[in-house]
Amino acid sequence: MSTHAREPIGVIGTGYVGLVTAAGFAELGSDVYCIDIDAAKIQGLNEGRIPIWEPGLADLVERHRDRLHFSTDLSDALEHARLLFVAVGTPPTYSGDADLSAIEAVVAAMPASDRHALVMKSTVPCGTGDSIKRTFREQGKEGFRYVSCPEFLKEGSAVKDFLQPDRVVIGDDGDWAGEAVAELYSPLDAPVVRTDIKSAEMVKLASNAFLATKISFINEIANVCEETGADVVEVARGMGLDDRIGPKFLQAGIGYGGSCFPKDVSALKQLAGNSGYHFQLLNAVIEVNELQKRRVMSKLQKHLGSLVGKEVALLGLAFKPNTDDMREASSLVLSARLQAAGAKVRAYDPVAEAEARKLLQGVDFVASAEAAVEGADAVVLVTEWPEFAELDLRAVAESMRGTLLIDGRNFLDPEAAAAAGLAYEGVGRPSVAARPSIAEAAV
Ligand code: UDX
Repeated sequence: MSTHAREPIGVIGTGYVGLVTAAGFAELGSDVYCIDIDAAKIQGLNEGRIPIWEPGLADLVERHRDRLHFSTDLSDALEHARLLFVAVGTPPTYSGDADLSAIEAVVAAMPASDRHALVMKSTVPCGTGDSIKRTFREQGKEGFRYVSCPEFLKEGSAVKDFLQPDRVVIGDDGDWAGEAVAELYSPLDAPVVRTDIKSAEMVKLASNAFLATKISFINEIANVCEETGADVVEVARGMGLDDRIGPKFLQAGIGYGGSCFPKDVSALKQLAGNSGYHFQLLNAVIEVNELQKRRVMSKLQKHLGSLVGKEVALLGLAFKPNTDDMREASSLVLSARLQAAGAKVRAYDPVAEAEARKLLQGVDFVASAEAAVEGADAVVLVTEWPEFAELDLRAVAESMRGTLLIDGRNFLDPEAAAAAGLAYEGVGRPSVAARPSIAEAAV
């Protein structure tokens, strides 16, 4: 990767997006001035502590210590950099709109300047750029430039996604700032989409809504497969080979979660509604996802009857593997539903336990998959952590009280599970009954 000195930048907000963006641009050769209002976080970063678990990030930050500057003082970034990347949170409000108060605070903190530009990384509704430019004008800061440069990082592979993006989208007003952002990305071998600000904002929302739609679609196909006896894994394999469809994001499961899809789908639906358009499809995408998280309950009840007093082990809690992020994780809904139905919940996650403890009440956290399944009436695989592929299913069957394995991510081999003595229930595939071992069958 290029290491010659490049334009210094500022990054406001040191969450997932901000830190990865900062470390990524440091890797490309820029000095990066990272600003956050959270003094404890900045102190930690200055002492080498990375507040999130993201593969490769700690190494990258460590490698570029001399180029990464962490501070709570915005003037550090303003003094050294023209381009200020904004990566602050835009959580959903009760109405489903995005909460833009953190962004408004950033805008208000900017001085009048002809030399600076805000580069928006946070996901914002279409039209935010216009309203920020209007605010700048009202505050006598019309010289401040604005660029929309949405991020498409996936948690768990964010560093790789930054350095090897499918595309870079830059929406600008045709001034120096858009050019400068394009120049910053020039060492990367990626198609660059140069466009207007509103279209760039829409690219991000539409991309996430489309991917969420793809997931809800395959989940509905899975539910139909359960009625008809087809296997959704085979169906997705057959569909995915069509170039126009593609194999990615066709994995049926117990619903999508995370910090982006739930929020962005509802933000787009709300944005459409606010503009007078009823986005019917997205209503269904959201509803299908909510119901999908609950379908595990009926599978458990089908096998166990009442769940009162039953012990259920959850394998994995994070919204997906390789992250400790618990936001909108299916495990949150599932563990609450299970406890409401009278079950006792034991859970293991290789990385997300600390985060999960903040959000899950009444759950018994254990330190290994083996400890979770011991004595359980049923095991539910919630997150497809790679280590679960290595589980000794025969040992699992032996240490459980019951035999039911619900594979919420179609991650395990149904035949291997059945041969190990487990009753296998996936998502959208035929149930496979436990097969007694040869020794038992002989008795
Ligand atoms: C997503 C987008 O992919 C990324 O471009 C955007 O910048 C942020 O939102 P992320 O939230 O990190 O990234 O996770 P992603 O890997 O996209 O998965 C989202 C959810 O969908 C997870 O809960 C995952 O389990 C689920 N999923 C994904 C499925 O259920 N089936 C699939 O086939 C793919």
